[in-house]
Amino acid sequence: MLDGRRVLLIIAGGIAAYKSLELIRRLRDRGARVRCVMTRAAHQFVTPLAVASLSEDKVYSDLFSLTDESEMGHIRLSREADLIVVAPATADLIARMAAGLADDLAATALLASDKPVMIAPAMNAQMWAHPATEANLATLARRGILRVGPGAGLLACGEVGLGRMAEPAEILAAIEAFFVADHRLAGRRALVTSGPTREPIDPVRYLSNYSSGKQGHAIAAALAALGAETVLVSGPTQERTPPGVCLVAVESAREMLAACEAALPVDVAVMAAAVADWRVEGAAAQKLKKNGEGAPVLRLVENPDILATIARRRNDRPALVVGFAAETENIIANARAKRAKKGCDWVLANDVSPGTGTFGGDRNTIHLVDADGVEDWPVMTKTEVARRLADRIAARLPSRIH
Ligand code: C5P
Repeated sequence: MLDGRRVLLIIAGGIAAYKSLELIRRLRDRGARVRCVMTRAAHQFVTPLAVASLSEDKVYSDLFSLTDESEMGHIRLSREADLIVVAPATADLIARMAAGLADDLAATALLASDKPVMIAPAMNAQMWAHPATEANLATLARRGILRVGPGAGLLACGEVGLGRMAEPAEILAAIEAFFVADHRLAGRRALVTSGPTREPIDPVRYLSNYSSGKQGHAIAAALAALGAETVLVSGPTQERTPPGVCLVAVESAREMLAACEAALPVDVAVMAAAVADWRVEGAAAQKLKKNGEGAPVLRLVENPDILATIARRRNDRPALVVGFAAETENIIANARAKRAKKGCDWVLANDVSPGTGTFGGDRNTIHLVDADGVEDWPVMTKTEVARRLADRIAARLPSRIH
């Protein structure tokens, strides 16, 4: 149920606006309070009278209407909402949102708001596929704007393709999911490293380690589930990319560092990758051959320390930098030393002695070491560790959505 939830529904000018009437009815049936803003173009598709009757409230359209401004300024319109839903979100309104325009009441209400926004795009398939729309949607996604649809099917223009607005039932489900979900990290950016790195010996051989990527991937999933825009920089693993996470696949430590630096600025960085400490100096350009002169000698050189590099950035250091310390003895003392050496804020120390089954296994025993001391966590699955860490991160970085 949506009892008492306040939804500001912005209806832009597209044929799919007729479906918004059904959406208003369904929202009202679920107990939501719905206030509607229509763009001028929307008036061509549905009448303000129909919208007002279904929402049982006045409909707002004019930015400069004195009566509207005296009764309900655009600031109050968005302030008095728990969620702003734009349905249909036309290519034009999406572009205006991305550009930060305030040229009508709909765009102004969106710009003047810090409330969560969900868009249900609706447009012709060509417009949907246009690089301009793609870039605008990427901008909105980066700002944490939620999206539902579009689907594929027969469009009003007679073409078949992507661009059909999600059905009212689907939009309603997304709205209900929004209200039950935890959005404590909405508007925040997170960077997570995961998996092993591979350091080439020649084009067909490499040095690596047994890291499965399970813990790093679970952390990325947990951060994304709390609404953080999450970049996962991972070496090769068998793990599936978690939903809503942007994967940057890398191989070597140096590639991993470059990808991490490219992801900055972020609010939080969690370095869970098992980065190879050394790489082969002067990896061979051609496959090494047995040539009767004995085995080749590999000379190793040290890899960059990604955690320490990110933790020591000057202007764009993440507010919170978290590292792991896989230890087999003196776990806490080593973790404390590592925290100081790398300059990170928290170290999650875990026991990887043979027999604990941590490497590649599903369970992990963590001790969180920070400036204040040590917190011992019970034995947990890697998913539970990830959720608890995301929870701690959310407590440290309060949500940007009010
Ligand atoms: O020094 P050590 O490998 O024990 O430190 C572990 C922590 O440092 C982990 O968080 C790991 O992801 C990170 N690390 C790194 N780059 C390296 C080595 C380790 O980011 N080259």
